[in-house]
Amino acid sequence: MRYTILLLSVLFLQCSTPKNLVGPKGAVNPYQYTSSKKVVVQNGAVASAHPLASKVGMEIMRQGGNAFDAAIATQLALAVVYPTAGNIGGGGFLVARRASGETVALDYRETASSLARRDMYLDAAGNVLQGKSLNGHLAAGVPGTIAGLFETAKYGNLPFAKLIQPAIDLAEKGFVLTDREAGSLNSIQADLAKYNTVKNAFQKESPWHGGDTLVQTDLANTLKRVRDAGAAGFYEGKTAQLVIEEMSRGAGIITLEDMKNYKAKWREPHIFSYKGYTIVGMPMPSSGGILLHQMMKMVEEKPLVTYGFQSPLAVQLMVEAERRAYADRAEHMGDADFVKVPEKALTDTAYLNQRMRDYKPGEAGSSQATRPGKLTHESEETTHLCVIDAAGNAVSVTTTLNNSYGSKTVVGGAGFLLNDEMDDFSVKPGVPNLYGAVGGEANAIAPGKRMLSSMTPTIVLKDGKPFLVVGTPGGTTIPTSVYQTILNIIDFGLRTEDAVYKPKFHHQWLPDEIAVEKSFPTDVRTALEKMGYKITERGSIGRVEAIKVLPNGSFEAVADNRGDDAAEGW
Ligand code: GLY
Repeated sequence: MRYTILLLSVLFLQCSTPKNLVGPKGAVNPYQYTSSKKVVVQNGAVASAHPLASKVGMEIMRQGGNAFDAAIATQLALAVVYPTAGNIGGGGFLVARRASGETVALDYRETASSLARRDMYLDAAGNVLQGKSLNGHLAAGVPGTIAGLFETAKYGNLPFAKLIQPAIDLAEKGFVLTDREAGSLNSIQADLAKYNTVKNAFQKESPWHGGDTLVQTDLANTLKRVRDAGAAGFYEGKTAQLVIEEMSRGAGIITLEDMKNYKAKWREPHIFSYKGYTIVGMPMPSSGGILLHQMMKMVEEKPLVTYGFQSPLAVQLMVEAERRAYADRAEHMGDADFVKVPEKALTDTAYLNQRMRDYKPGEAGSSQATRPGKLTHESEETTHLCVIDAAGNAVSVTTTLNNSYGSKTVVGGAGFLLNDEMDDFSVKPGVPNLYGAVGGEANAIAPGKRMLSSMTPTIVLKDGKPFLVVGTPGGTTIPTSVYQTILNIIDFGLRTEDAVYKPKFHHQWLPDEIAVEKSFPTDVRTALEKMGYKITERGSIGRVEAIKVLPNGSFEAVADNRGDDAAEGW
């Protein structure tokens, strides 16, 4: 079944052999477009946070690209049409299964500048300088996305110039904003005025309205430099110079050398088995893979299926696994290139069994009794995309600027937003930060270090072949959302759209409470409260994208209904 939402017009002009991929006569029309929440297709599928980005990815595959090409083109398009989280000024992680059967993981997380210091967000008295790691120039880590895309291109079929052109066209010719996007841009005008030294494309004297066209000329020119000079078009030359000039106008600390030295890193994926499936996840510096491993293994031998989907006992069991995994995250996890992360010990079966020894069905556990650890606040404005092709390539990518619109600082003349990823470090190890959370020693700031993440791009294999490609934004709620989505499918047998859309819950050790979405069933809340849990209601948890491979080999791609997310395929 295909749900179609008419966003801007009843007319969707599609040309079968377009000259330009993007344009009124191209396959992707940025002025009139439709959006699908679900597709079932045979040849290739993309799910991402924006309909135009998903369409770009699909068209790239239709024109001979594979899933890696589509993932690159989709990310670049998101950097234009989804400025809240899509980016070239941030970073991310990719997990993939190649057609050959090889599984790979790519880390293009931002790094702290060589001038970063452990106490850079503290005043002389050792108090946290509130907001400094979140907004403005000092909040930014050295961006990793462009380096990551060029590494990803090793596994693609098409020239990078073809993959980046749709993003250039979307930036240069503009695209039509939805009401939601216009409202979002209006909501950050005061911040943009505060944290920018040069006027940028997002700033406007009068309010933005749905139907307005957003043109980003500076960004288009930056993307053209990348098209023409490769990664050096970003990390060196004019773009790098513009970053440095921006830093000097706003007392930032990223240097030309930092830009030139940035490297994306291939990592060994974090792989484990669950009930006959193979889960391929992201290793450090993302906590996502290990957390998923811990949580899934803590419930694997328990009677989840007997309890039933979202029964009080099933939710309680899953929550108790979440509590224990997050306590470990806080204590032990950080950039493994800088600190020793006891990955094997944390995922050892005997250890995980022992962790659950004090779990009592029907009775709330306590975070005070659970071994002390420390947590870091993380923003939830991240974005995920999934791609699969008929050759057997499957790509799962989560990228971020951290907060919505990152540091709110646009590089003057270069048109892209800088991240505020530095806030994912422990700004002051051991002491509660602005959000009442505390960070661990393993995640303290150091020059060149990568900040701990929760991003959980994941691929589930069955008999060595892709079964599910999944991921989500959502800060610390990312691992719990991915965990619930996978269990919803494997254990509870939910349809993919139900696995994605059904209300979610989240426990992260501290605070000792279960956060639930508004639509979470009232009777289950009441039952959990009777067990002794504190329940808090909150906004959306996650915005999951998922592609499931059906028994007949078709791809069922589902985009979350919590946003404008869209699934495309053919
Ligand atoms: N900034 C969110 C994360 O990396 O988990």
